[in-house]
Amino acid sequence: MAKEASVTPWEVKGNIDYDRLVKEFGVSRIDENLLKRIKKQAGTLHHMLRRNIFFAHRDLKWILDEYDKGNRFFLYTGRAPSGHVHLGHLVPWMFTKWLQDVYGVELWFQFPDEEKFLFKESMTLADTEHFTRENAYDVIALGFDPKKTHFLIDTKHAGVMYKEALKVAKKITFSTAKAAFGFRPEQNIGAIFYTAMQAVPAFLPSVLAGKKIPCLIPHAIDQDPHFRVSRDVITKIGHYKPASIQCRFLPGLGGMSTDGKMSASEAETAVYTTDSPETVRKKIMKYAFSGGQATVEEHRKKGGNPDVDVSYQWLTFFEEDDRKLKKIYDDYSSGKMLTGELKQILVDKLNSFLKEHQKKREKAKDKYEDFIFKEP
Ligand code: TRP
Repeated sequence: MAKEASVTPWEVKGNIDYDRLVKEFGVSRIDENLLKRIKKQAGTLHHMLRRNIFFAHRDLKWILDEYDKGNRFFLYTGRAPSGHVHLGHLVPWMFTKWLQDVYGVELWFQFPDEEKFLFKESMTLADTEHFTRENAYDVIALGFDPKKTHFLIDTKHAGVMYKEALKVAKKITFSTAKAAFGFRPEQNIGAIFYTAMQAVPAFLPSVLAGKKIPCLIPHAIDQDPHFRVSRDVITKIGHYKPASIQCRFLPGLGGMSTDGKMSASEAETAVYTTDSPETVRKKIMKYAFSGGQATVEEHRKKGGNPDVDVSYQWLTFFEEDDRKLKKIYDDYSSGKMLTGELKQILVDKLNSFLKEHQKKREKAKDKYEDFIFKEP
């Protein structure tokens, strides 16, 4: 039975109805027209746009209009350090890297190292400090341009960030925060303030440059409440309202109806960037929810269901080649391809990606300092 769905920045569970989220959050669907315009500007369309993995936005048209006028935007995204990076985390970052490449723009990447300290009982500041580095290696490994990429670490860059966060915080009431995040009276007061810190990188580059620069925030849909509450406030303090573009979640290995998204705290639902090839193989073979039939005979007759099959769904995120993907879809749903064969395709795909990623992640350790924002 499907668990009741819940999507907040602190919890994602159950079978997610994206149509309902679009309505509830008040974001817009990315339509054909927007896709055409991106394709024209970028020269290509990323597979996550072609496949509706990035599916919603706020004010994206404005960003593209400004770009056509020669007014370039900057990108902003982030990661609250709290544990090892898994494949689900990489989804918006890979897309952000593509945006940086095709638009040639700056990226501000926030590591709010206070966030999980405030929201998770067991997390210490020493833990989040440790994971800031560990997680940053994964971000660097994706190949962001060191000259155009700036890491902001909240406790480290508090000097420039705090003043700006105060301006935001002053204009958000407790009742607004409560309505957006569902805070209860026993919530610690640090957690209530946090959203002001997450708003800052959306306009800090404008503060530093002394002129308004448009901002585009790629993120998974669960982060939208932060920006919903801060967008208007940001205009009130003299900056452009940030635009955003939202993606779906990579489902956990257990399937779409049980694990809303991959969870870093549940090792059997996730594949980590540091997993060995053998671990990846075991996890996929053992835990990836299958859309196949109970017996080979039945499977050959009826075929599998790629729409609920986690291995197939993961390939829609990681196999860029549309023709290859279509063939897998056809062969699996006709019964020509068995679940074990489909899983093997995914295992090979992930392991060849991770082999490269792990090499680059090792090299990233020497590059860390180059990415940290240096205050002027
Ligand atoms: N809150 C995000 C998390 O839990 C981290 C984050 C900070 C972020 N700023 C962001 C995510 C901007 C997307 C966009 O990981």
